[in-house]
Amino acid sequence: MNTVKTVRELRAAVGRARTEGKRVALVPTMGNLHSGHAALVIKAAQRADFVVASIFVNPLQFGANEDLDTYPRTLAADQERLLQAGCHLIFAPTVDEMYPDGMAGQTRVSVPHLSQGLCGASRPGHFEGVATVVSKLFNMVQPDLAVFGEKDFQQLAVIRTMVRDLNMPIQIIGEPTVRAEDGLALSSRNGYLSTEQRAIAPVLFQTLNHIARQIRQGSRDFDALTGDAAAVLLEAGLRTDYLEVRHALTLLPATAADRDLVIIVAAYLGTTRLIDNLHLTLE
Ligand code: PAF
Repeated sequence: MNTVKTVRELRAAVGRARTEGKRVALVPTMGNLHSGHAALVIKAAQRADFVVASIFVNPLQFGANEDLDTYPRTLAADQERLLQAGCHLIFAPTVDEMYPDGMAGQTRVSVPHLSQGLCGASRPGHFEGVATVVSKLFNMVQPDLAVFGEKDFQQLAVIRTMVRDLNMPIQIIGEPTVRAEDGLALSSRNGYLSTEQRAIAPVLFQTLNHIARQIRQGSRDFDALTGDAAAVLLEAGLRTDYLEVRHALTLLPATAADRDLVIIVAAYLGTTRLIDNLHLTLE
């Protein structure tokens, strides 16, 4: 498994794989990889012959007061994990390689409706940064398929819509969230939690399950359900940014008639912002 840093080397390596008739998959990441990322690579390796993983902490998707500078960069450990998971090539470009003319004048890709609410409301410009870098990576690698985690539910919806709207010939595969034994969704940002905060964090997924149970039992007053649950989270020490029941495809506020739902949350534990979701399909 090779690690390349330039688009030229990347295109050459993918070109060789193509010449050998290989089906190519891309797993975009920001590094600091955990078992959730390994699951994406394993899925990619089941569906393709040549798996490219990108590692790039994309400045374009971070807000001014966010954790761009402190975001953990752990290339050596990431290389080992990717090798184990069945990756064939790592693309780990510098910021200059990705944005040679700087970011101010960079052409942007915007997916307006889906990017507005939820994480988009508290992270303005975030999904534009994600859609832009992902479309650049798609153009650099030109994969047959790409795998993303369902933990970033809104991101996955944004990417699926971008691919459909811009007629990109790439199959998008969503991979279920990998969780710790106590239910906490694996995330690079879990590393920011103190021991005490880490002990509290599973309340987030417990709360999603509690809401899902009530919906399955027939409750449809979503505002009341999420309002009560946010109070429970606050009691536990988690300050809710949003906690909502949405339609799983459109991400519009759910109605009582909807059957395909997602319960979706972002909450602060100290200064760490955690996100999670539970996809719920009713009979
Ligand atoms: O999910 C992530 O890690 C990032 O948002 C992505 C898709 C790699 C784009 O930078």
